[in-house]
Amino acid sequence: MGFFYKWWQVIICVILSLFSSSLVEGSHMSYDHESLDAFFGKKTNKEISRPRTGVFYNVSIPSNFTGMEISVVRLRSVPFWFRGVNYSFSNIPPRIVPRPNVVRIAILYENLGNWSSHYYNVPNYTLVAPVFGLMAYNSSKRAFIGEKIDFIIQGDPITIQFPHVMQHETNSTPVCAKFSVGGKVELSNMTKPYVCEGHGQGHYTLVVPSLPSHTNSGSKRFNIWWVLGFVIGFVGLVILALVLLALVKDAKRRKLRKLERNSEGGELFDTFWIGETKLPLASMIRTKPALENEDAIR
Ligand SMILES: *[C@@H]1O[C@H](CO)[C@@H](O)[C@H](O)[C@H]1NC(C)=O
Ligand SMILES: *[C@@H]1O[C@H](CO)[C@@H](O)[C@H](O)[C@H]1NC(C)=O
Ligand SMILES: *[C@@H]1O[C@H](CO)[C@@H](O)[C@H](O)[C@H]1NC(C)=O
Ligand SMILES: *[C@@H]1O[C@H](CO)[C@@H](O)[C@H](O)[C@H]1NC(C)=O
Ligand SMILES: *[C@@H]1O[C@H](CO)[C@@H](O)[C@H](O)[C@H]1NC(C)=O
Ligand SMILES: *[C@@H]1O[C@H](CO)[C@@H](O)[C@H](O)[C@H]1NC(C)=O
Ligand SMILES: *[C@@H]1O[C@H](CO)[C@@H](O)[C@H](O)[C@H]1NC(C)=O
Repeated sequence: MGFFYKWWQVIICVILSLFSSSLVEGSHMSYDHESLDAFFGKKTNKEISRPRTGVFYNVSIPSNFTGMEISVVRLRSVPFWFRGVNYSFSNIPPRIVPRPNVVRIAILYENLGNWSSHYYNVPNYTLVAPVFGLMAYNSSKRAFIGEKIDFIIQGDPITIQFPHVMQHETNSTPVCAKFSVGGKVELSNMTKPYVCEGHGQGHYTLVVPSLPSHTNSGSKRFNIWWVLGFVIGFVGLVILALVLLALVKDAKRRKLRKLERNSEGGELFDTFWIGETKLPLASMIRTKPALENEDAIR
C-alpha cells in the first residue's frame, strides 16, 4: 500500500510542477515596452550626468538586452527648429516644435533589433524590420531625460529609414506601422522604398500581412490536445483505479470463501447455522452463492 501511496505523490508533484512551470513561462513572456522606455530613460540619466548639448551618446546595453541599440542627444529647441536633426534611422526636418514647448529637448533613439517582435506586434501582420523608437523628452539640469513630450510639425514630416527588410513568406509590399504612446497602431503606405513618414514621437516598423496561417488555430489546437490528453488521462486513471479495486475485492472474496471451505471442510455446502444449531441444507441452495443464502434466510 505504501508503494502505491508514493506513486500517487509523485504523479501529483509532476502535475503541479507542469502547471507552475507553464504559469512561470506565462509571466516571463510579458514584455512591457513602457517599462522598457522608462528603464532606458533612468539608465541614461544615471550613466550620462553632464551631457553636452548637441552630442550624441550611446547608452550601454545590459547583457539581458543584447541586440538593442540606444542613443540619445540633447538639443536646444530654437536651433532644433531651424536645422532639424539627422541621425541614425531618422531625419527630423526643420520647423518642428516640441509640445509643450521646452527650452531643451532630449531625443532618445531606440533600435529594438531582434527584440522587436517581443515588444511590438500588429494582429494579423508580421514584422519585417526592426522597431525604431523616436522619443522626445524635456531635458534640463535636473534630468537629462525628463518628462515625455511630443512634436508639432509645421513643415515636412519626420522620415524613418529602414536599412533592410527581413525575409518573409508573402511577396506583398511592406506597410508602415506606427505604435503611438497609448498602444494604438496606425498603418500607412511607405513614401519611398523602406521609408516611413512620422508625425510625432513613437515607435515605427514595417509589416506585411501574415499568411492566413496556423499560428492562431495551431495554438488553439495545441490547447485542445492538451485538454483532451488531460481528460483521457484522468478517465484512464479512474478506470484503472476502479479495475484495481474490483480485483482486490474479488481476491478478498475468494480468499474468504477458501478459508470458509477449509474450516468447514466438505460440510460447507451441505449445512448452515441458525443460532447454534447446524442444519442440513436443501440441494437447491448449492447453486446459489453463499451470501445470497444468508439474506434469504433473514
Ligand atoms: C553608437 O553605436 C553605433 C552602433 O553600434 C555606432 O555606429 C556609433 O558610431 C556609436 N556612436 C557613438 C557616438 O559612439
Ligand atoms: C535586465 O537587467 C536589468 C538590470 O541590469 C533589470 O533591471 C531588468 O529588469 C532586466 N530585464 C529583464 C527583461 O530581464
Ligand atoms: C538577440 O541577439 C543577441 C546576440 O546578438 C542575443 O544575445 C539575444 O539573446 C537575442 N535576443 C533575442 C530576444 O533573441
Ligand atoms: C537633414 O536632412 C535634410 C534633408 O535630407 C536637410 O534638409 C537638413 O538640413 C538636414 N539637417 C541637418 C541638421 O543636417
Ligand atoms: C485577424 O484575422 C482573423 C481571421 O483571419 C479575424 O477573425 C480577426 O478579426 C483579425 N484580427 C484583427 C485584429 O483584424
Ligand atoms: C521642463 O523642465 C524644467 C526644469 O525642470 C521645468 O521647469 C519645466 O516646467 C519642464 N517642462 C515641462 C513641459 O515639463
Ligand atoms: C496604399 O496603397 C495602395 C495601393 O498600392 C492603396 O490601395 C491604399 O489605399 C493605400 N493605403 C493608404 C492608407 O494610403
